This record gives sequence, C-alpha cells and structure tokens, in this order.
Amino acid sequence: MNELNLNTLIALLETEDITSLKVKLEKLSNNEVFKKTNGKIKVISNGDVHSVNSDYLLGEINQILETKTIERSRYYLKRLIKSLTEIKTSNINDLNLNRWKEYDDIITDSLWILDKRDKSGAHKGDYWGNFIPQIPNQFLRRYTKKDDWVLDTFAGSGTTLIECKRLERNCIGIELNEEVVKLAKSNIAKEKSGKESVIKVVNGNSAEFDVKAELNKKNVNSVQFIFMHPPYWDIIKFSKKKNDLSNAKSVDEFLKMFGAVLDNTVKFLEKGRYLAVVIGDKYSDGEWIPLGFYVMEEVKKRGLKLKSTIVKNFDTTKGKMNQKELWRYRALAGGFYIFKHEYIFLFQKPVK
Ligand SMILES: C[S@@+](CC[C@H](N)C(=O)[O-])C[C@H]1O[C@@H](n2cnc3c(N)ncnc32)[C@H](O)[C@@H]1O
Repeated sequence: MNELNLNTLIALLETEDITSLKVKLEKLSNNEVFKKTNGKIKVISNGDVHSVNSDYLLGEINQILETKTIERSRYYLKRLIKSLTEIKTSNINDLNLNRWKEYDDIITDSLWILDKRDKSGAHKGDYWGNFIPQIPNQFLRRYTKKDDWVLDTFAGSGTTLIECKRLERNCIGIELNEEVVKLAKSNIAKEKSGKESVIKVVNGNSAEFDVKAELNKKNVNSVQFIFMHPPYWDIIKFSKKKNDLSNAKSVDEFLKMFGAVLDNTVKFLEKGRYLAVVIGDKYSDGEWIPLGFYVMEEVKKRGLKLKSTIVKNFDTTKGKMNQKELWRYRALAGGFYIFKHEYIFLFQKPVK
C-alpha cells in the first residue's frame, strides 16, 4: 500500500491561483502513490495512519480538477482534508459520513438485484432455505456498530452469525433443529476472520427461548438488531417438530406462531434500533398468499415503525433451473407468475 502525507494536501491550500493548483494536483494524481495501490492508500496525518479507498481519493481530486475558480477548488480541498481527519458517525453504525462516497457497495435503493452469492470464507450456501450473506452484511454495516449485540431468531446454517463474526458484532442465534445447530456451529468455526466477539447458536424454540437469561450470562440486557428469516410457511419443511413454523396447519396458525416469536424477542430490542424480516410469498391452491404483507402487519401491530420494504430478486432453485422451460409453460398455461422476488421488511422500535 502506498502513502500520502496529509500535509501535501494542506500545503496546496496556500496555492494562489487555480492553474498552479491544478498543475500540482495533476502531478499528485499521476504520482506513484496512486499506482499499484490494491485499492487502498495509507494517509498519514499527525503521525496517525489510516487506509483510504484510492478510488474515493482520486474521485475527490478529479472533482477539484474540474472546478473553475480557486475559491471552489479550496472549498473541495478543505472538504477532502476534513473527510480525512474528522470522523462523523451516527448512534447506530460506524460509517464515517465524512467519507460517505467510499461506501459505494452499501445499497440505499429499495430494489436489490444481487446476482452472486458471497461464497467467501465459511459461507457455503448449501443449507436449503438459507439467505445470501449480503443480506446480513448490508444491515449489520448500516444498522449496527462494532461490539453491538444481534439476535437471529431463525439461525439456520449460521449465515448471520458468520457475518457478525467477520464484522465483530456479538450474535446469538436461535435454531429449533439440533442437527442444524451442529451445522451452524461447524460453519461458524470455519470462519477465520474477526475476533473477540461472542458468537453463539443455541438450540430452542424462538417463541419460548429464555432470551433474557442468555443475554444476562453475557451481562447485557438488550440487543441492537434482530434478524428474522422464518420459514416461508410450508414451502420448505424444515423438520417434523410441531413448534417449527413450517409445520403450521394454516396461514393463521403460521402468523400466530410468528407473532409468538415477536412477543418473546422484540422486548429485548433497544429502543430506536432495527429489526429486519426476510420473507417470500407462496401459492396455495392456485391463490397467491401474500405471506410477506401478513407478516409485516404482525410486526406493525406490535408498535414497530415500518422503515422500508425492500424487494430482492430470488435465486432460482437448482431444481427449477433445470426445468426452466417446463415452469414457463406451466405459468403461461396456468395464468400464474413464477416467483422471482422476496421481501425484506425493515422496522424501527420507536424511541418513545
Ligand atoms: C429460512 S431458514 C433460516 C436460514 C438462515 N437465515 C440461514 O441463512 O441459514 C428458517 C429456519 O428456522 C428454523 N425454525 C423453524 N421454526 C423455528 C422456531 N420456532 N424457532 C427457532 N427456529 C425455527 C428452521 O429449522 C430453519 O432452519
């Protein structure tokens, strides 16, 4: 990684005219510092060193090069220096808003088209019904800080916990099926990045599990984010257990069971913090069942504020991929649509 001393930028503020400033900046941006950077540049300021995205730096320098007056150039230059020296974060995440342009991989649109599953590290993606790691990654970075506590009420193969381990958030995951708990534990153990956070999967029914006791063991009494990725009713039967939401006998029973999980866990969410529910709809006897919207209402009934409805593209299952033509024919003949999206509902627990 190459180095840039902040004093080089500060000295540029003394430049009298715009032409000389641009010549100096051109020279700087063509400098070796910006070559072979592997995307990062070390910025040295008052003895402190931190790494900065090189595209971000070059983008800012190019913006200054496009200005027409020395006043405007100085304004952008000062803003760049400020972004490299001052950190502006909020109460709910560690994003430095003074360098917001660096976070170009954080999605702020409500339509998510994610075509590749992140398979890095311990993420394998072979548990049927898991979600792609980008989902917890996006929310953890936007809605939690390092060392915050996260609860995942339907932990499955441990995707959320692996992301928490990487991002150094603490996480408790509850999973009903003992075999799946073992799978999650072995997946989490394979993740080598991250350090010092508490990452724990427990076996239990999220509608009854003693969350308070589990948190107290770690001397905490609230969590700062909750993920819920329940079964999409009976689309995938996860087990034969009667407490398993995928064994609900009707939509009403499914919603009752989901509501019981909310009642047992949302009370531990810190006020002002967020809950995300990932869910898809289903067909039953030729009728579209809007499970997602029903679930959204269950959460709203409990006083949480809906902050966003995200529509995310849905991975075609391997089975369906092989029979793509057949499904298309069936859809055309039967007058229905093939599911290609699911929802992520984001809620905030009111402060008052
Ligand atoms: C859609 S999967 C979650 C997958 C997870 N997000 C992942 O990436 O692996 C739903 C999970 O909820 C579990 N489950 C069903 N009913 C439950 C309950 N009452 N309490 C806890 N877990 C439950 C199932 O065994 C299944 O593993």
